[in-house]
Amino acid sequence: MKANIGLSSKNIQQVVTELSKLLADEFVLSTKTKHAHWNTEGNDFYSKHLFFKSQFDQLDQIIDDLAERIRSLGHYTPGSIKQFLQLTHLTEVSGEDNNESKSYIKDLLMDHESIIIHCRESISHFGNKLGDFGSADFVTKIMVDHEKMAFLLRAGL
Ligand SMILES: [Fe+2]
Repeated sequence: MKANIGLSSKNIQQVVTELSKLLADEFVLSTKTKHAHWNTEGNDFYSKHLFFKSQFDQLDQIIDDLAERIRSLGHYTPGSIKQFLQLTHLTEVSGEDNNESKSYIKDLLMDHESIIIHCRESISHFGNKLGDFGSADFVTKIMVDHEKMAFLLRAGL
């Protein structure tokens, strides 16, 4: 059922398209962070194993919130791995050649920074161009969460 919330269908569609890409990025980044949690090795294994878990727990909360934001706008959310791989800006890595925590951290940090840059563009677009200040505010919170996660990764390098 369409959401009657004072936004045109055209504007809502544009917001949903961007939120769906962000959802796909979060899904891929959560999977990559789980990969790091499972496969990291070295004398810092246990602390990094726990650290990566704390990060994918936050990402999984963001994923659920984002999917439900799309539903709040009256649209269905992408929900298959095939769709996420078509929509994401991020690249998966095999990660089998180097299992040191630093190698995972560098790669994850680049993904967080890329998501932060996309979020910043979306915030301005949603609010100033499309009049959806709710989604602008929603994405602002996600961006701030990524800024904190990126700081914690960066500090470990
Ligand atoms: Fe685990």
